[in-house]
Amino acid sequence: MSAALIPGVDRILFTEEEIESRIREVAAEISSRYVGKTIKLIGVLKGSIFFLTALARHIEVPVKIDFLGISSFSNKSGAPGVVRIAKDLDDTIEGEDVLLVEDIVDTGFTLRYLLQTLAGRAPNSLSVCTFLDRNSRRIVQVPVDFRCFEIPDRFVVGFGLDYNQLYRNLGYVAVMKLDRSA
Ligand code: IMP
Ligand code: MG
Repeated sequence: MSAALIPGVDRILFTEEEIESRIREVAAEISSRYVGKTIKLIGVLKGSIFFLTALARHIEVPVKIDFLGISSFSNKSGAPGVVRIAKDLDDTIEGEDVLLVEDIVDTGFTLRYLLQTLAGRAPNSLSVCTFLDRNSRRIVQVPVDFRCFEIPDRFVVGFGLDYNQLYRNLGYVAVMKLDRSA
């Protein structure tokens, strides 16, 4: 799907080739950090699935994969940060080396909630790998162990990230126009 065909797209931020090459680097970092262990990759639906599958293919230690689904919504005053699990993991994570895989860490509310929830299930270790990190908008401090790209304060789509559930299937990451109806 070419960027020119998509209404609302301003410019491409990361091409398919840049993404592939950076994912290989991060997978190598992860592989060396987890030598001798089995990683339980936990993907947060739906945004992380493209990243998780690409990453998993390049990790050189054994991996297991599970997913959880969340819904997040604003509270009565319109503030973000209310998160709940809509689809739980299939299996226990007790005693496992868990690597939580996110599409993007923005304010940090989602990640904080997930880390608190998963930490309560007694994994052997719990780390975070995110495809994108928008640190400039962080409201709550959360640990990020592995990241592919730091991004500017603009809304992005592609490689799993959506706008109204669209554009997740783009192979690249693109910045949306400020006026998204354009
Ligand atoms: P946080 O709780 O603010 O860190 O929100 C993270 C979630 O918001 C991500 O998992 C995405 O689902 C969504 N999100 C944040 N920024 C973007 C973006 O630029 N494009 C698409 N989704 C985004
Ligand atoms: Mg997400």
